[in-house]
Amino acid sequence: MGNTEVTLCGLRLDNPVIPASGTFGYGYEFCELYDINILGSISVKGTTAEPRFGNPTPRIAECASGMLNSVGLQNPGAHKVLTEELPRLRECFHKPVMMNVSGFSADGYVSAVEILDADPCIGWFEINISCPNVHGGGLAFGTSSENAAKVTAAVKKVTKKPVIIKLSPNVTDICEIAKACEAAGADGLSLINTLLGMKIDLKSKKPLLANKTGGLSGPAVKPVAVRMVYQVWEAVKIPIVGMGGVSSAEDVIEMMLAGACAVEVGAANLVSPFACRDIINGLPEAMEKYKINNLTDIIGAAH
Ligand code: SIN
Repeated sequence: MGNTEVTLCGLRLDNPVIPASGTFGYGYEFCELYDINILGSISVKGTTAEPRFGNPTPRIAECASGMLNSVGLQNPGAHKVLTEELPRLRECFHKPVMMNVSGFSADGYVSAVEILDADPCIGWFEINISCPNVHGGGLAFGTSSENAAKVTAAVKKVTKKPVIIKLSPNVTDICEIAKACEAAGADGLSLINTLLGMKIDLKSKKPLLANKTGGLSGPAVKPVAVRMVYQVWEAVKIPIVGMGGVSSAEDVIEMMLAGACAVEVGAANLVSPFACRDIINGLPEAMEKYKINNLTDIIGAAH
């Protein structure tokens, strides 16, 4: 059987498959369904320093080959995540966790990271500078090299854990933002977040989502994600976590060939709660089919 182990910013993963933030709760919710310790890691629900109720409903819309979401970073806040959610996850998951953090200012990101840094189960911080569903935060950082670098440098000052910056595809040149984050000290990058989209309800003749726009994810975005991972791999030296429409073991391999050393699975978890388990179980057969002995060997091999 082929070797599925990979390394992400110095930490070893049994396999590259990580449920993406916002599609797997705080992880423990899935323990009743299967042993989640088969996962490479888990990127937990995006957390801000203060609790957030999120956007008005409807927040979700299905569309061809994907879905739109406009959740608006609903979460119970960093203190509650530190004292209630992460301890519950630790009871059933015994590997380093990827802690996804959002903010509305560089100080906001720093506050959340400072609170959460106390948790020993956090292996990496994933800093979301790319949420398209909130005003005055998220995307405002991910679409400006200067702001992206500012947040990266600020967060790096307050934690010794690896900092992975989650990038937006809603930009003219993702490589420019990627390079700015690398220069500011990022240990890794994850990409892509969702593509800004809209669905109009034919009966009401108005946008279906209460927030009007939302982020598109699912199989529809995979070619965009693969293209961006490929381009960013050529632009930077730090590791890349690839994501966007991944729903099979073959998709994981494609993302890794483009340059990802680990792969997040998002919308597929909302189609089936067993998506990550099934992808992991499918890896050995897919590796055999494509004559891959060692997954690490294929990272960036498409270049
Ligand atoms: C949300 O909470 O609106 C989704 C998070 C994101 O897209 O970054």
